[in-house]
Amino acid sequence: MGKMKIIGLTGSIGMGKTTAAAAFRAMGIPVHDADATVHALLAVGGGGVDAVGAAFPEALRKDDAGNAYIDRRTLGQIVFGNDALKAKLESILHPMARATGDAFVAEMRGKGHPLVVLDIPLLFEIGGEKRVDITICVTAPPEVQRARVLARDGMTAEKFARILAGQMPDAEKRKRADYIVRTDKGHDDMRRQLEDILRRIRTES
Ligand SMILES: Nc1ncnc2c1ncn2[C@@H]1O[C@H](COP(=O)(O)OP(=O)(O)O)[C@@H](O)[C@H]1O
Ligand SMILES: [Mg+2]
Repeated sequence: MGKMKIIGLTGSIGMGKTTAAAAFRAMGIPVHDADATVHALLAVGGGGVDAVGAAFPEALRKDDAGNAYIDRRTLGQIVFGNDALKAKLESILHPMARATGDAFVAEMRGKGHPLVVLDIPLLFEIGGEKRVDITICVTAPPEVQRARVLARDGMTAEKFARILAGQMPDAEKRKRADYIVRTDKGHDDMRRQLEDILRRIRTES
C-alpha cells in the first residue's frame, strides 16, 4: 500500500471550496473542513472557548443552560480591521485547528484511505502548503465570485471588500497551486475536473 496523499483544497471566498469538498466526499474521499472546525472550537463544549473567551471577554456568552460559547459575530466585529487583535485570535485558533486537522489525517491514514482532502480557506496565507502533498485552487471570474458572495445572508459590498483585502489575490493562489478547478460552469463540469485531477494523482503515485 502506498503512502496516503493529502490534498489541500483552497481558494478565495465564494470560489467553490465547500462545493468541491462536497463533491470529493460524494466520491468517497474523506474531507476535513477547517471553517467547520473553527466553528466547533468556538461553540458550546468547544476546545477554544476558554482561551478565546479569556482573550476576548466581550465575545464570551452563555446559552440558556449556562454553557459558555463564543459569539462569532461579536468576535468578528472585534478583530475586523485590527491586525494586532486578528493576529492574537489566530495565534489561539490556528494551532488548535491544525491539531484537529492532523488528528483527522492520522485517523484516515489508520483506516487505510489512500487520499484525504483538507478544505483550508487560508492555506497559502498560513503556509499550509507545507502540510499537504498536493494543492488545488478553486476559482471563478471575479464578477461570479462577487455575485455569489453578495447573495449570502448578512453580506455587504463593504464586508466583501474587506474580506478580499485580507486574502491572497486569486491570481496569486492560482499561480501557487498544483491544480486549478473552475467552478463557473456548473457542478458536472467541476466534477469532471476533480475526477481528472484524481486520475492524474493516482497515475503519478
Ligand atoms: N461548480 C459549481 N457549479 C455551480 N455553482 C457553484 C459551483 N461551485 C460553487 N458554486 C456556487 O457558489 C456558491 C459559493 O460556493 P462555496 O462552495 O460555498 O464557496 P467557498 O466555500 O469557497 O466560499 C455556492 O453556494 C454555489 O451556489
Ligand atoms: Mg466554504
